[in-house]
Amino acid sequence: MNHPQWVKHEELKQWVEEVAALTKPDKIEWSDGTKEEHDRLCQELVDAGTFIKLNEEKRPGSFACFSDPSDVARVEDRTYVCTKNPEDAGPTNNWIEPEEIKKTLNGLYDGCMKGRTMYVIPFSMGPIGSDIAHIGVEITDSAYVVINMGIMTRMGKKVMDVLGADGEYVKCLHSIGAPLAEGQKDVPWPCNPDTKYIVHFPEERSIMSYGSGYGGNALLGKKCFALRIASNMAREEGWLAEHMLILGVESPEKKKSYVAGAFPSACGKTNFAMLIPPKEMEGWKVTTIGDDIAWIKKDKDGNLRAINPEAGYFGVAPGTNYKTNPNAMESIKSNTIFTNCAITEDGDVWWEQMTDEVPENLTDWKGNKYDPSSGAPAAHPNARFTAPAAQCPSIDPVWEDPKGVKIDAFLFGGRRASGVPLVYEAADWNNGVYLAATMGSEMTAAAFGKLGQVRRDPFAMLPFIGYHYGEYFEHWLEIGRSLPNAPKIFSVNWFRTDENGKFIWPGFGENMRVLKWVVERAQGTASAVEGPLGNMPRYEDIDWRGLEDFTEEQFNDLMAVDREIWKQEVLGHEDLFSKLYDRLPKEFLFMRELLKAKLWRSPEKWTLK
Ligand code: OXD
Ligand code: MN
Repeated sequence: MNHPQWVKHEELKQWVEEVAALTKPDKIEWSDGTKEEHDRLCQELVDAGTFIKLNEEKRPGSFACFSDPSDVARVEDRTYVCTKNPEDAGPTNNWIEPEEIKKTLNGLYDGCMKGRTMYVIPFSMGPIGSDIAHIGVEITDSAYVVINMGIMTRMGKKVMDVLGADGEYVKCLHSIGAPLAEGQKDVPWPCNPDTKYIVHFPEERSIMSYGSGYGGNALLGKKCFALRIASNMAREEGWLAEHMLILGVESPEKKKSYVAGAFPSACGKTNFAMLIPPKEMEGWKVTTIGDDIAWIKKDKDGNLRAINPEAGYFGVAPGTNYKTNPNAMESIKSNTIFTNCAITEDGDVWWEQMTDEVPENLTDWKGNKYDPSSGAPAAHPNARFTAPAAQCPSIDPVWEDPKGVKIDAFLFGGRRASGVPLVYEAADWNNGVYLAATMGSEMTAAAFGKLGQVRRDPFAMLPFIGYHYGEYFEHWLEIGRSLPNAPKIFSVNWFRTDENGKFIWPGFGENMRVLKWVVERAQGTASAVEGPLGNMPRYEDIDWRGLEDFTEEQFNDLMAVDREIWKQEVLGHEDLFSKLYDRLPKEFLFMRELLKAKLWRSPEKWTLK
């Protein structure tokens, strides 16, 4: 078999040949990551009816596409972590014995690329050559995947130059599971509507994905590698692979701090990572390093340094507009792929809440003329944009620094209508780990559990943890033990509602007020009082310039700790702990007792005043 001259890695060539022998593609192409390759594949996707070229004047270099209606999101119930010992995968992951699932998958992969091209994509998660970065190679039969991986990662020949003849890489095998028989006409979004598997083998650091062409199921660098496999690598090697955004906060005195924040899916992470402070808070600025994933390693001085392993945003489109996230709107002005958005009659894209008015004559995400009176949305609720991070106006000047940025604070936040205050600071690292381990979020879609029900989502990693949560908590405690100057840990909640179900906190840019207190606490310059849950700002500790209408009473309501709600909350912790009991850090049991003691001796409704 002929491989490009720039591929020097014999073991990798051998793997490619083995996969080709099994999957039987018509041809093999190594992705070199060039603009020519990108343009050629986009044209091929247009010719195949997968891509629709958008109006070059309105959205230069951009394309839209519609997926098969059966293939619109990550498939958590088809996602597996396959360790030799089931207990190592932990009770929160689906598990099948590795040899057994490989037999099933190899059966499915046999001939699965017939009539198609097999692409080999070398990619780096993180700036090429960074000590914090790692390399993967994805084999796929989807040109859509190649184009998206080209935006989301550093891809192509330059990665092979770093990998050399014997470098380590994560094997990522992907097929849409839709072979073409001789003469069979292809469909615009081929996939396998009946059979999907997203399978991880942490012990061999490899991934096998079958049947889906969408997002995290198919772009294997993202959730599969950068979280599920990387969380295992991180545990073994003493670092952290987290479902976190990273942002920079610059003060008027130009003092820069960096904050990493974990929020479950659908809690506005991309908006928060790109926030624009209220204009009255003159001189304060937020910069973006990443909106979804952070890889964090300790440096020789004992600081935690983080990189964004990704190079693009795979953001949820509906709800994104010039009010909620102007920087995202600017980032997607060109060179962007839109999946499952609606298309306007002049060849642009649209989604719910992009503008107040619904444009006339839309084509909806199913490719039909849109009927606004139908009650159905024009864009799928999980419609996405794939855009290069470098196009974000708030991108931090050092976002590609191979050393990463020094993290000063961690934030953990879910979507909670009641009980959880706007912000509080954990007393110390261990209490912060407990806070993050017990965080929960209310369901926004009825996908998992009941609407509004709290799903415990420790560290916002529930769908992404690659091993046993008990050990993951222990790993976080262990990291803290060796830090001379551990970052402070905070809980935030933008979603508390009043008795009419209306959000009390305005959110978006106003979150800067919380962020300012957080970084000033990290620098040791802001005050706080001790509440039952941790250290809390008083009204006078927050900068209210431009939001003077928000009263002290409203703020105190947002910060109140209701004993009855927290009794239930602690019972929820116990539920979680009982699932993880055999590998749960012992410290947690004592921290829970301490929390109970503090709650029991505080008034029924604890308030700041
Ligand atoms: C995502 C997610 O798409 O967390 O980032 O689901
Ligand atoms: Mn995410």
